[in-house]
Amino acid sequence: MRKYKVAIVLFWTFIVSSIKLELKVEAQSLFSEEEIQAKLKLLNKPAVKTIKSEDGDIIDCINIYKQSAFDHPALKNHTIQRTPMFFQESQYLSTKYDSEANIKVFQTWQKRGSCPKGTIPLRRILKNDLMRAASLNRFGLKSPTLFLNSTNTYLNSINLNGSYAVVPQSRSGAHLAASGSSYIGTQANINVWNPKIELPNDFTTSQIWLKAPNGFDFESIEAGWMVNPEFYGNNDTRFFSYWTKDSYRSTGCFDLTCSGFVQTATNVALGATIKPISSTSGQQFEFNVGIFLDESGNWWLKVNNNIPIGYWPGELFETLKHSATLVQWGGEVFSPQVKISPHTGTQMGSGDFAEGGFGHACFIRNIRIKDYSLMLKYPESINAATQEPSCYNVLNDVQSGQDPTFYFGGPGRTPPNCP
Ligand SMILES: *[C@@H]1O[C@H](CO)[C@@H](O)[C@H](O)[C@H]1NC(C)=O
Ligand SMILES: *[C@@H]1O[C@H](CO)[C@@H](O)[C@H](O)[C@H]1NC(C)=O
Ligand SMILES: *[C@@H]1O[C@H](CO)[C@@H](O)[C@H](O)[C@H]1NC(C)=O
Ligand SMILES: *[C@@H]1O[C@H](CO)[C@@H](O)[C@H](O)[C@H]1NC(C)=O
Repeated sequence: MRKYKVAIVLFWTFIVSSIKLELKVEAQSLFSEEEIQAKLKLLNKPAVKTIKSEDGDIIDCINIYKQSAFDHPALKNHTIQRTPMFFQESQYLSTKYDSEANIKVFQTWQKRGSCPKGTIPLRRILKNDLMRAASLNRFGLKSPTLFLNSTNTYLNSINLNGSYAVVPQSRSGAHLAASGSSYIGTQANINVWNPKIELPNDFTTSQIWLKAPNGFDFESIEAGWMVNPEFYGNNDTRFFSYWTKDSYRSTGCFDLTCSGFVQTATNVALGATIKPISSTSGQQFEFNVGIFLDESGNWWLKVNNNIPIGYWPGELFETLKHSATLVQWGGEVFSPQVKISPHTGTQMGSGDFAEGGFGHACFIRNIRIKDYSLMLKYPESINAATQEPSCYNVLNDVQSGQDPTFYFGGPGRTPPNCP
């Protein structure tokens, strides 16, 4: 099996002064008012209708043709694609656990209304969101990866097939991974929790990834749920997407905070909060997320029972426009305080270790991949691994006659094992 090449993350040590609204002290920002207004103009678009969600989010329904996707140079003449026909096939439905497992997860803003036809819901970015950011240029981007070559020199790119032994920094992952084939899609049910964030710039995800090498970099498209207070302004669990074509260096972003992803759905907002949240020993909630390649090289994102959200046009990628070489399911904690002591207490998954099992640990199940056989199936070659087993761990529960369930996560700092 191809070894997953891990990445070393460059940690950005910019610190923004805290905002003390109650004292009416103007927050100190690294950026000028002009820079902030220019960035807001780029991120937000004129609203046809505005919906104020009870969770505090503002959802703007914007003209589908005015979305930022078309600001991308490769998409100047792009025409919006139709949803692929294969989504109408029953095998793409996520019915397997529907009655048992409560695929009733929905977005809070939907309670207050819906977006009209011909528009898409865009979560409005506020001035405060930008003032929390370490960099305006990198707003919405994960920290770039750094790689170590064999003479221990940090490089900012690497060949995915190279033979570098690298230890990732600033992020800790616990994954189930499939490789060794050409993948053209995956879907899975992700259990929904609200893990605790200890340090203000930490974030934690439960998600799926599709990756492929691009020269000395890798390309990745991703979706799932995330708790990321620095980016979103609170600790809510949110539905997110991500893409990059250069190992998180300069391309791509979360949600619709850069040009690239073409949204078609009127009813789901990327980055919006989702509910309900599962409770320990109580009711479990999950949602189905899928990413599939169409005949034209576009990767479609869908949720629950084949609700298409939109797609990443093939033009964004070099290798991924044909297929992915690595598919992953699991969680990641981003923090400067991972792999060193004191470890962050930011949780992954539910905050419980994998062996807690159903009702305790976060799970991903109903895992399927699609390759050129065009059948949706459980991957033949699969491998569960975690980077910090004492802090976050993994358990792929495979029992004969049953669909496997992948459990992952943990509490982070737990002395003496994870000091
Ligand atoms: C868009 O169309 C124009 C006119 O046909 C063409 O000159 C230009 O190269 C096209 N741009 C892209 C990115 O395809
Ligand atoms: C590691 O990277 C440095 C800087 O690019 C380079 O000088 C050195 O030759 C590289 N070593 C190997 C073994 O590739
Ligand atoms: C993989 O590595 C070999 C040599 O190590 C190199 O020749 C080849 O170009 C690499 N493949 C990619 C996609 O970069
Ligand atoms: C997020 O949760 C942490 C820990 O519970 C808390 O300290 C922090 O203030 C919360 N952040 C926001 C933005 O609510």
